[in-house]
Amino acid sequence: MPLISDTPHWQQLKIESQQFEKRNLQQLFKCDPHRFSNYSLELDNILFDYSKNHLTESSLSALLRLADATDLENHIDALFSGATVNASENRPALHTALRQNDPQPLIIEGVNLREEILHARQQMATICEKLHTGNWLGATGEPIKDLVHIGIGGSHLGPECVLTALSHPKERKPRVHFVSTVDGEQLQQTLNQLDPNRTLIVLASKSFGTQETLVNGTHAKNWLQRSLPAESGIANHLIAVTANKQAALDFGIPEEQILSFWSWVGGRYSVWSAVGLPIAAALGYGTFEQFLTGAARMDQHFRTAPLDSNMPVLMALIGIWYIDFFGARSHAILPYDWRLRLFPEAIQQCDMESNGKSVSSDGLSLPYATGPVIWGKSAIDAQHAFYQHLHQGNPWTPCDLIACAQPVFPEHNHDILFANFVAQSRALMLGRNSEQVARDLAKHTVSDAQRRLLISAKVCPGNRPSNSLLLSTLSAETVGMLLALYEHKIFVQGHIWGINSFDQMGVELGKEIAHEVSAQLKHAEPGKQLDSSSHGLISKYLENTRKS
Ligand code: F6P
Repeated sequence: MPLISDTPHWQQLKIESQQFEKRNLQQLFKCDPHRFSNYSLELDNILFDYSKNHLTESSLSALLRLADATDLENHIDALFSGATVNASENRPALHTALRQNDPQPLIIEGVNLREEILHARQQMATICEKLHTGNWLGATGEPIKDLVHIGIGGSHLGPECVLTALSHPKERKPRVHFVSTVDGEQLQQTLNQLDPNRTLIVLASKSFGTQETLVNGTHAKNWLQRSLPAESGIANHLIAVTANKQAALDFGIPEEQILSFWSWVGGRYSVWSAVGLPIAAALGYGTFEQFLTGAARMDQHFRTAPLDSNMPVLMALIGIWYIDFFGARSHAILPYDWRLRLFPEAIQQCDMESNGKSVSSDGLSLPYATGPVIWGKSAIDAQHAFYQHLHQGNPWTPCDLIACAQPVFPEHNHDILFANFVAQSRALMLGRNSEQVARDLAKHTVSDAQRRLLISAKVCPGNRPSNSLLLSTLSAETVGMLLALYEHKIFVQGHIWGINSFDQMGVELGKEIAHEVSAQLKHAEPGKQLDSSSHGLISKYLENTRKS
């Protein structure tokens, strides 16, 4: 496969992008009174408005031709049908199969994965039913009241994001606590408030070899052992979700409490599996099924809609447009809904671990920019934190603004929230020029020197693009659709860039060196063979720990 940047389509896009040196977003709206309807798309509960982007018919067509030239449609089919899309690890990426209700067998290497998935769902539903209804009893016969989910990365971010989006902590039964980091503070603070007789520990780890999860799991297990009567054992207090059954058995988890997590599900795509247990347990398995149904709906759209009206494809192309033809290096995700406050973090992992790569899946060094830095937070908070940068900073950042139409709290508040959602995308687009600032300043008495300073400080360049996503309600189905939308966007971008979006080899190096440094801490001359910075830091650390 030639590099995408060597194709005429890429060169054409370079030419197209030059047109925008003379055009701005406001002019695009003036030229086309129907721009909103021409550049927006609705799928069930999700309205995707991409009209405030540097797009014209001809640039959008050129982007679509680029996608077409990569044989995107066949690649989408390959993803769904279980082809080896993860070449470096020689396996498919079948997270979509986890949410399908297709009765047809899905045979991969002679195994009917559909049967395995249905069996795992059934197992999960049974456990959730018992937990949710208070019929799962601990060693001393008391019903489980608290579930501690220990996992990190994809084994944590998805479930916490979705649970936060769908419920207030008080609505969860059992209550759910997440522990991810190896910083003992997090686990200790969590366990301190819990009754071991009524606590269930869930260890979610595909590999069952992740240091953070195993260290926390071992502490939690010791806590149970110390607190519960020896004769009753702690088996009822432990569940594992893993692809490494043997390691979970060795850890002491009963076989029937080990839920499957398969090698063909990437960690950051795993919330659809039993990794989503905290969601299903706390809100009921039915809610979890609705979440799966929403994702399946987005899958169906992604698989069948023509490229020019395909939401994930359009989102992906708009992203590539800015990254490779306008020099954008980051992308902000800004939910105008507090319930979605963890969404930017979940997408940050999904996107940056998938596409933060500079080598093609064929091993070629890529001469163009790929996955951007993804950042963001609850947008109203962000308005008082980093929107200054969005409006006047250099470099500039394309954004996704996400809001939900249906209020769950007083309408007055919700109107304010919604007004901000619309206002900010408008402000990014309109900006404020020096004449406007000067007119405003004319109402005040200021010296000429001060006036000049104020004018340059207050000018906002504008012409900054954004996508707006307006959700009708924040139901389990909508959240499933939204998450699947971003997963597919990431997949399309990775495909067009020629990247394998399903491995994450870069994270291994740091883990290996952390083991070496840990060994150094016990060494006779700690860190002496390392670089002087690492040596200096180790020496200072040991000096302090010896003192305490
Ligand atoms: O360090 C990266 C990573 O492998 C993620 O991809 C994954 O979600 C996380 O670690 C946790 O891995 P595991 O589920 O195997 O514990």
